Amino acid sequence: MICLPFSDVYALVILLCSSLVLVRTIGGELGWDGKVLELDSSNFDAAISNFDYIFVDFYAPWCGHCKRLSPELDRAAPVLAELKPPVVVAKIDADKYRNIASKHDIDGYPTLKIFMHGVAATEYFGPRKADSLVQFLKKFVAPDVTVLDHDSSIKEFVEAAGSNFPIFIGFGLNESAVSNFAKEYKKRAWFSVSSNFSDETMASYDFDKVPALAAIHPASNEQSIFYGPFEDEFLRDYIKKSLLPPVLRITQDSLKSLKGDERKVVVTILDDERDEKSLELVRVLRAAASANGDLIFGYVGLKQWPEFADSFQAHKEDQLPKAVVWNGDEDYETVIGYERFEGTDFGTQLSRFLEGYRSGDVVREKISSGGSFFRFVKSKLGMQVALVGILVVLVAALIFLMMNGEDEVSRDREGGGGGTDSVVHQDTRVKED
Ligand SMILES: *[C@@H]1O[C@H](CO)[C@@H](O)[C@H](O)[C@H]1NC(C)=O
Ligand SMILES: *[C@@H]1O[C@H](CO)[C@@H](O)[C@H](O)[C@H]1NC(C)=O
Repeated sequence: MICLPFSDVYALVILLCSSLVLVRTIGGELGWDGKVLELDSSNFDAAISNFDYIFVDFYAPWCGHCKRLSPELDRAAPVLAELKPPVVVAKIDADKYRNIASKHDIDGYPTLKIFMHGVAATEYFGPRKADSLVQFLKKFVAPDVTVLDHDSSIKEFVEAAGSNFPIFIGFGLNESAVSNFAKEYKKRAWFSVSSNFSDETMASYDFDKVPALAAIHPASNEQSIFYGPFEDEFLRDYIKKSLLPPVLRITQDSLKSLKGDERKVVVTILDDERDEKSLELVRVLRAAASANGDLIFGYVGLKQWPEFADSFQAHKEDQLPKAVVWNGDEDYETVIGYERFEGTDFGTQLSRFLEGYRSGDVVREKISSGGSFFRFVKSKLGMQVALVGILVVLVAALIFLMMNGEDEVSRDREGGGGGTDSVVHQDTRVKED
């Protein structure tokens, strides 16, 4: 690369050239070849400041979660290296390099952080399987709002977005109308606008006039449409509500999406999410959701997540289906006379349940399991992670004592592989579902 020092402009060019060369050299010196980059105290700061997007795994060699994560990172790294801009995947033994760990507030292993432009480390709570991890990190480096200029770009955008986040498409909407929200909710949804689309697109996204904002939930195959008014407060209200699908299937991952939404959740507990009766119940919930925007409607199967059902006193099939109104914390309400639903007419019973709830005909209750499940749920919402770390060790120790002699501790609860080992030197093995 040749840079000629003829004027101020050239001086600037030289500066740019040399900084480019510097990035290249440091990238080279750091030995990044698209695979997971091993960092230590000699190159950590250089790596953070020289790569625009670097995803760092703070691990400890003895931690079981870390060992399971490692091959996933190995798989994700080359894919992330190909993104434009690329995301560098790196790891550092945070147990050995404690100064670096404490500087970055690491209090459990593994902790995952993404550093953007040398600053702004954001802790990553997303999934840890290679495929989903790639989808999540793609979101971090994508533009806030993507402008889609014809039908095929809309199709490609929706396909590339995958199914981990809701997708907003503003049809006939100016980019600037959604750009603030796109920044605010960057980590939670895809945002795009399009001003050139066909009648077929209108039919497939089910709108008949513009401007219109579509919210698509690929994971649950649901969508809704908003025709305005496009003033900030109404738009915010719609976008905020549409971060969640109209009916939420409650899982460890989907619970995280409740974060930042103050609405109470009508939790419906069924026996098995997959059976015929449940499909009907979900249809009823969807209708209820569209008429009761101040509440979130969710469902969970006793078979799918027994611990969750258990904390709302639903232990057995014959007590189901049942609905409660949960505040997303440790309190919930049951409606007198509608402690469980009978027969097949869910629609009528749910309406009466909601009437009862609104007229205050309720019994207030606390989540059971002595509050430990509540803390677990909170950790899923990204809070009190340290507390849960301690709890995990306590629970592990307890199970250990109970099993008396078994040297491996298994725990089903954290099926998504989203666990964090406490800094206490103890290797808690978690069995994946
Ligand atoms: C609008 O979309 C059509 C087909 O989808 C495409 O042929 C045309 O070039 C687009 N117009 C602009 C201005 O991008
Ligand atoms: C979009 O909004 C920007 C800023 O408000 C404005 O300058 C621009 O003209 C608008 N574009 C269209 C197509 O309305």
